[in-house]
Amino acid sequence: DVTHKQWNGYYLLPAHEPAAAQFAYNKWNPNEGDVIVASYPKTGTNWMAELVSNIAYCHDEEMLQKVKDTTVFFSFLSGGPESKYEVLEKLGIPRKVLRTHLPASLVNFKKYHERGVKIIYMIRNPKDQAVSWYHFCRTQPFADLPSYKDIYTTEKRKFFDTYLKGEHKLFAKKGEGYLEHLKEWYPHQNDNNVLFVHYEDLKKNTKQEIRKVAKFLEITLSGQDVEVIAKRTSFDFMKESDRIKSIQENKPYFKVYRKGRIGEWRDYLTTEQSSLIDEKVQKILGDTNLEFSYYGGDVKA
Ligand code: A3P
Repeated sequence: DVTHKQWNGYYLLPAHEPAAAQFAYNKWNPNEGDVIVASYPKTGTNWMAELVSNIAYCHDEEMLQKVKDTTVFFSFLSGGPESKYEVLEKLGIPRKVLRTHLPASLVNFKKYHERGVKIIYMIRNPKDQAVSWYHFCRTQPFADLPSYKDIYTTEKRKFFDTYLKGEHKLFAKKGEGYLEHLKEWYPHQNDNNVLFVHYEDLKKNTKQEIRKVAKFLEITLSGQDVEVIAKRTSFDFMKESDRIKSIQENKPYFKVYRKGRIGEWRDYLTTEQSSLIDEKVQKILGDTNLEFSYYGGDVKA
């Protein structure tokens, strides 16, 4: 399988490299205070990374820009090539903000704990996550490959059927997916250098969650700081900044900032698909205290 490389039976995305992930595990020397935003794809990774960067460099525009300039793949622990770690060090950012979609078993918790690295794991309800993934696949170059034609199909029912069967090879083992990723991360919920944040909480109680993240990072924010950060990390602000940036840099526009809503799944999943997710949640996560919020204030009830 040339496009989705594997590490320990877990499939990575095509642009990700086992060698880079292994470098992160075995050799990367993080700074104390570096932050890793961990998540399953389409759960709000970019949002949390933007939030953490803004909290860390709320009063340092220059450094904030530097952190934001570490482009998406560059900032992923498993984003290749492994030589990027050397480049990252040279940027001279005291508090780097990196990202990872790796399953918990491929993350070196011991090292990060010892080095004072903080980890924030983003969680989103699995129905909206699936819808977000469906739309994101439209913009993915690999979705056009003949071997994926049947999987990354524009035919909604089929797309979600194959996704729910674990056929999409997305940071999971064969036949597995987001819920297994959550199950593996779950035992780390109470590690003292790990914080779990729900997408829906961030959406509904933005300022409260911003304060929670700042407290976890041991950064003091004034009321005014919280206001500024909330504005700069709002969906509209981030979407517009990203659009302008992609024009300026003449880059392909990956539609990360699409709708940013809670509850859109009702327009996409069949009743059977929605029930199947409920059953799987019960089966895979039934013995955890994880709860998902499937409804928001900004869509029809
Ligand atoms: P939708 O496709 O449902 O709109 P990731 O960053 O993990 O790829 O997740 C992308 C999802 O997060 C997209 O969801 C995107 O719109 C949403 N998102 C990004 N920034 C956001 C923000 N500031 N507020 C709310 N949602 C945001």
